[in-house]
Amino acid sequence: MCPPDYFGIEYEINPWMRVSNQADPARSRKQWQELYSVLTGEPGAAIELLAPVQGLPDLVFTANAGYVAGDLFVSSSFKHRERQGETRYFDAWFQSHGYRIRKLGAGCIFEGMGDALPLGDTIFAGYRHRSEVCSHQALGEITGREVLSLELNNPFFYHLDTCFCPLNDKSALFFPEAFDIYANEVLTKTVPDLLAVSAVSAHRFACNAVVVGRTVVTNTGCDDLQQPLAARGYELRMVELSEFMKSGGSAKCLTLRLD
Ligand code: ARG
Repeated sequence: MCPPDYFGIEYEINPWMRVSNQADPARSRKQWQELYSVLTGEPGAAIELLAPVQGLPDLVFTANAGYVAGDLFVSSSFKHRERQGETRYFDAWFQSHGYRIRKLGAGCIFEGMGDALPLGDTIFAGYRHRSEVCSHQALGEITGREVLSLELNNPFFYHLDTCFCPLNDKSALFFPEAFDIYANEVLTKTVPDLLAVSAVSAHRFACNAVVVGRTVVTNTGCDDLQQPLAARGYELRMVELSEFMKSGGSAKCLTLRLD
């Protein structure tokens, strides 16, 4: 995670962002702290921190740093110039922590674990709004995993992690309306237990959940997730993340899974 010292809405690169709808710094700090406390509390997540950098307001969204698999770090190539400056800080962190760093070929947009998520032995990868499909092929070659490409068709759900969330090797949350017909078919055929979230919860970024053990952490307003999660042995914890929603981000975007 990266503390929100310099977080703000300084540009508009997704439909949630309005420079006129600024994030409140004190509230951002409090909400980020609360997420940190919940994750390190009962679920017992160990959290490493990346130092915040002035002028890089979206560095808090560490999910976009790259793709992590064991000691391999596949570094992102951001679509928007506004976020491209983040790469050297993410790369430096992974370099100094002993990861092998791989870059994708020139000109191929890839936004890391915002758009690529493992479920079992397969990597599910989104494209169209941010990452490009060329990155899926490269990711498959580098990781030796099968990569299934999913077309995202709703600009409000511009990263895969805003509309799809694996819970374990068999189950995942998803918002069907964020995917095209073929992607819906791929998901239905390959994920044994696919749980569709309501439109209301989807717009509260229910699918942007952090799963640690049996705990699922989301933004507030995802109450209707509680029952289907409980039926699968998971406990829902909701944390107010309104300031990050103004940037089109929520719980999962604010973290990058290292294990
Ligand atoms: N403002 C950021 C952007 O548009 C939010 C990133 C959210 N990250 C994510 N993994 N969905 O790039």
